[in-house]
Amino acid sequence: MLDFILLDPTFSCCTLSAAVLKIGTLYYSLSLWSQGAIAAADFVVATSLSLLIISEARNLSKRFLEFFEHIGNIANGVFTIVQPHEIIDQDSAIAHSITHGQIEFRQVNFSYSLGKKVFDNLSITIQPGQRVGLVGFSGSGKSTFVNLILRQFDPQSGEILIDGVNIQDMTQEALHSQISLIPQDPSLFHRTLIENIRYGRLDATNEEVIEAARQAYAHDFIAQIKEGYDSLVGERGVKLSGGQRQRIAIARVILKDAPILILDEATSSLDSITEKAIQDTLDLAMNGKTVIVVAHRLSTIAHLDRILVFDQGRIVEDGSHAKLLARHGAYYRLWKMQAGGFLPVEANNQNVSELHTTG
Ligand SMILES: Nc1ncnc2c1ncn2[C@@H]1O[C@H](COP(=O)(O)OP(=O)(O)OP(=O)(O)O)[C@@H](O)[C@H]1O
Ligand SMILES: [Mg+2]
Repeated sequence: MLDFILLDPTFSCCTLSAAVLKIGTLYYSLSLWSQGAIAAADFVVATSLSLLIISEARNLSKRFLEFFEHIGNIANGVFTIVQPHEIIDQDSAIAHSITHGQIEFRQVNFSYSLGKKVFDNLSITIQPGQRVGLVGFSGSGKSTFVNLILRQFDPQSGEILIDGVNIQDMTQEALHSQISLIPQDPSLFHRTLIENIRYGRLDATNEEVIEAARQAYAHDFIAQIKEGYDSLVGERGVKLSGGQRQRIAIARVILKDAPILILDEATSSLDSITEKAIQDTLDLAMNGKTVIVVAHRLSTIAHLDRILVFDQGRIVEDGSHAKLLARHGAYYRLWKMQAGGFLPVEANNQNVSELHTTG
């Protein structure tokens, strides 16, 4: 008990002053009463008043503690919001419009933090209109590759060019408005479903939004919700499953119709029947666009023009599905290893090239 009192100064201070007030009032009023200076009623009023003062003082100190806690939380929140953007447009940045959709990595070096490099001198060109699949074990750098194209991060050295223009010379608004992305785990805004889909193209009419939802196989489940397209999404509205959120994200992309399309495991949360149905829509959406598809399920990218096999930040194989299978290399091993169409998270700590050499 003594330890507790010594360790918590607010406790000891409050309790001590409360005890002093209580005992002091009791002692003083008792002595006055015994001398006949006050009546019994005065004695009762004095003691109950002192108890009231103690309990209100305790409440007040609690409120003060809460008040300063809230001030701290608000200060933290404001500090987070007013952080300057890490990546800002250069003054000379232009709103370049992407006409062909060629993507080039030129000697790119990138690491998230000092020390471990994700890409070491990576150079690769993706031709306009090419549909490219990225494969490799978890952590091999596939998402980082697409994040760099979207300029979520700047490489430490080297250049990323779209149609020959360094993306650092483009405004981020121009860059992002011309690249569609279906991320690994799409998030929705706390808005209505129709607003969430319209985010793909803000000037789209209701009919266009609904048509995009139909193509993305989202219309049927939206129609089943009580308020349909006007349902609010989020904590106080409808909560959607991963697959439903992916379909909303696909509808956004169909509406946006940008020249570059990036799918990061876009159909990973869908059941196989919906996935099969959506695959046709996605193939249609890919028409005439430069497309990058990240997939764990190799069957979803086997039909693409080109496959890049990532291994610890390096591209160890590059070619079509048929060509890579014929090589009997890393991709062939991965294809063989698929149990039920999925890549294992890792292959007993082997990397892809080891798989290649250990036969
Ligand atoms: N935001 C981040 N901060 C620090 N390191 C990161 C970050 N994102 C990824 N990494 C690291 O960078 C490397 C590449 O990760 P990346 O997410 O690109 O892999 P991936 O191939 O997309 O994996 P998965 O198949 O699991 O999605 C990993 O070693 C990972 O730990
Ligand atoms: Mg990833």
